[in-house]
Amino acid sequence: MDKQKAIDKLNEILKHEWTGLAQYAQQAFLVRGLWREPYAKMFFESAEECFRHAKLIGEKIVALGGVPTLERGTVQQSTDVRQMLQHALAFEQAAVEHYRQALEICAEDRPLVVLLEDLILEEQQGVDELQKLLQEHAAAEASLGPQQAQERAG
Ligand SMILES: [Fe+2]
Repeated sequence: MDKQKAIDKLNEILKHEWTGLAQYAQQAFLVRGLWREPYAKMFFESAEECFRHAKLIGEKIVALGGVPTLERGTVQQSTDVRQMLQHALAFEQAAVEHYRQALEICAEDRPLVVLLEDLILEEQQGVDELQKLLQEHAAAEASLGPQQAQERAG
């Protein structure tokens, strides 16, 4: 395994997890109205998951001889819950892709593969869950009737 390449990829992942931590916390702060009750809790839990992943990846970067990044990417912001969920879905899909690439780079380091596999599974579960939520959300809006749904969307 190319150690430097592995450290660089893990740092890209760490940057992504820091972005997620800030983005999910901001979503939890900003979500309002009828959807606040379930989603503020869900967004805070997702922020905590990002921090849990960031800790595991940061620890591994140091174990490999690297320095964990303090950078984070651009945080997507919205006050509309459907858009927040779409931002969350895009974030989780990008995370799956990051971990998939890391698995390719780190394939010879079996313990690291096990760690990355655990994390990619959680990211994929996030994608699956958000896709279901977005379907449910669309169904709930449809049940308001076309007129109200349009007013909400407009
Ligand atoms: Fe994560």
